Amino acid sequence: KRVSSSSSSTYLIRRSFGSESSSTPERKVAVLGAAGGIGQPLALLMKLNPLVSKLALYDIASTPGVAADVSHINTRSQVTGYMGEDQLAKALEGSDLVIIPAGVPRKPGMTRDDLFNINAGIVKSLCTAIAKYCPNALVNMISNPVNSTVPIAAEIFKKAGTYYEKKLFGVTTLDVVRAKTFYAGKANVSPAGVNVPVVGGHAGITILPLFSQATPKANLGDEEIKALTKRTQDGGTEVVEAKAGKGSATLSMAYAGAVFADSCLKGLNGVPDIVECSYVQSTITELPFFASKVKLGKNGVEEVLGLGPLSDYEKQGLESLKAELKSSIEKGIKFAKDN
Ligand code: NAD
Ligand code: LMR
Repeated sequence: KRVSSSSSSTYLIRRSFGSESSSTPERKVAVLGAAGGIGQPLALLMKLNPLVSKLALYDIASTPGVAADVSHINTRSQVTGYMGEDQLAKALEGSDLVIIPAGVPRKPGMTRDDLFNINAGIVKSLCTAIAKYCPNALVNMISNPVNSTVPIAAEIFKKAGTYYEKKLFGVTTLDVVRAKTFYAGKANVSPAGVNVPVVGGHAGITILPLFSQATPKANLGDEEIKALTKRTQDGGTEVVEAKAGKGSATLSMAYAGAVFADSCLKGLNGVPDIVECSYVQSTITELPFFASKVKLGKNGVEEVLGLGPLSDYEKQGLESLKAELKSSIEKGIKFAKDN
């Protein structure tokens, strides 16, 4: 079975400048927050994706310049910039996939949950518009705290009567990208051939890489696995500290977001056996949202895959993450219900 994170990334590079076949379906992708640190490189990468026929770039400011710039690249998609709330409807109408990197990033010393007060409101207003203008689109939520913004989106869609649980995804691909890179470094193998599932959520200890299932197999000791786990969990903070007040991961996130979006589009187009880790509505644990391997298909989630065999260390990690993840989910649901 193909686990597509690695194959998608090769695909992105291989096909970036290629021409699409005439049978490739029309697909409109909207990026909300397209002028931001993630939004701009993500717009670039989506412009390179031959599966996209229309690319709508929306932000509250600066989108005309980003759109004009990206639109000159000689690839398939037609690019349009939309700025300000009165243009949001046009940006969304007809979208097959909406990617949301809108919102404030962390500064050193902050947790992702410290972003809740600002980003919850942004996500709420964007999801209200999605429910109205493109209720059938797949939604890729990047805005933090993902552990809460996905439950917020679900509640907003429920209120609007347009909640399709198979179409809502929290983007946790960057955790997978990091786990693969760090594992490849320790195991001394090429990152391109590495696979590591990452489950749970997207903040601190809720990020649980399953190195016991990593391939190719490497003989790493317990201490090495612990160090790799901690580095994956703290990967975002490593970048926030290195950027020293100038934001969080943008380039690696744009790459991860483009890989995940590419897999969603392939699923929509009927490509079989596309599997990515993502934070989705789930019954594989007692928590209503959980990240795990997900099979993608023509309607979004085709199947939420189980966790597989865990090491004792991973079993412990799973138990320890549940309380925090549960409270982040409840916080999101409460916000959406009260606002
Ligand atoms: P940024 O500040 O550089 O860009 C955010 C953009 O959002 C800005 O252009 C801003 O104008 C726009 N924006 C604000 N309110 C908006 C609204 N109502 N509608 C549309 N656009 C709006 O921030 P960034 O570095 O691009 O990060 C964006 C978000 O992504 C943050 O919340 C960050 O924590 C998160 N993030 C998530 C992951 C992940 O793995 N899921 C990784 C990195 C960053
Ligand atoms: C990341 O993992 O890089 C993002 O969630 C941004 C952050 O605040 O760490």
